Amino acid sequence: MIPFTMHGSHILSTGSAVPDICINNELISTVIDTSDKWISTRTGIKERKIIDTNQSIVDLATLASHEALKKGLLKPQDLDLILFATSTPHDLFGSASQLQNCLGASNAAAFDITAACSGFVIALIVAHQFIQTGIYKNILIVGADTLSQWVDWSDRTTCILFGDGAGAAILQRSLKNDILSFEINTNGHESHQLSINYNYPKNHCTGNDTYTELLFNQKYNNQYDYLTMNGKEVYKFAVSQVPTSINNCLQKIHRPAKDITWLLLHQANQRILEAVANKLKIPIHQVISNIQFYGNTSAASIPIALNEAFDTGHICNRDVIAIAGFGAGLTWGSILIQWNALE
Ligand code: UT7
Repeated sequence: MIPFTMHGSHILSTGSAVPDICINNELISTVIDTSDKWISTRTGIKERKIIDTNQSIVDLATLASHEALKKGLLKPQDLDLILFATSTPHDLFGSASQLQNCLGASNAAAFDITAACSGFVIALIVAHQFIQTGIYKNILIVGADTLSQWVDWSDRTTCILFGDGAGAAILQRSLKNDILSFEINTNGHESHQLSINYNYPKNHCTGNDTYTELLFNQKYNNQYDYLTMNGKEVYKFAVSQVPTSINNCLQKIHRPAKDITWLLLHQANQRILEAVANKLKIPIHQVISNIQFYGNTSAASIPIALNEAFDTGHICNRDVIAIAGFGAGLTWGSILIQWNALE
């Protein structure tokens, strides 16, 4: 057993992948009663990428992971743990083991984390615990979702919002610690505001068959409802809870909001990004946003944006990044990172 000493966590590298099919607002407006103007002004979204039938979430996650491994100069066999944050797995038992297999990461334990749009932040925090305690050295964290497969494409209030994608990060044990503080919150009382519910077959309630008769006669088909969301309530929840959560993280390390170099929120709505930044008094040019290109990619949105921010050289040595995820559950979580470039 490894002796109990605290270790630092370093974000070694990142990667991301999105599908090739691009659906812009003009195209969507030919199918449902909406417009580019409505979508752009209410959400900031201009286009979203959606998965094809010959591709799965595991394929996207594999691509994103390969990029992170390559940039981190690691081999798949170097990974000790894979955390796959998704609410849309290819297999209801979880997709982390399929990802482990696709990568050939034979030394890694792997499991899924289901926490909707907060999934990546929560997985990052979980990974940090395993690093801090000295249990693991190299952890791959993937946030991926394919909500295009779960929305009702005739419901204009939801289908215009979501896109598919995957993002990955490798957290590595280090002498310098990038993770300053974090917080995770849940309010299950409001879970009905955003959900994909399990749908009991109607004949279970109305027919004469008992439950076991339905099972034995194979009349019992498992099915889920489409995604439903009370947009206004989720909007209000995000704008009120996310600044509080980030402020709590700042208070834990006795630092002011003006120390934040980059604000990186779950990309749900440009208006939410701006409202949260406003509350924290963070100038808009310090807010990382790519929502116009991908829409809301759920657990993938933060790691995709993080990867792009590293790739474009926006994040520099010693920058402080405030990251927050929020969504179904309702769950939300924040993490403050001070990124230390490797010397
Ligand atoms: O990832 C998880 C976290 N998710 C979020 O954070 C999402 C939070 N919510 C939101 O971002 C916003 O609430 C939405 C973008 C979902 C909706 O924006 P809104 O400003 O709250 O619009 P609304 O729902 O109040 O709808 C305003 C009007 C309605 O018409 P009436 O009743 O005023 O006549 C809607 O029927 O806009 C109508 N509408 C649309 N019109 C054209 C709703 N969707 C559309 C649409 N195109 N796609």
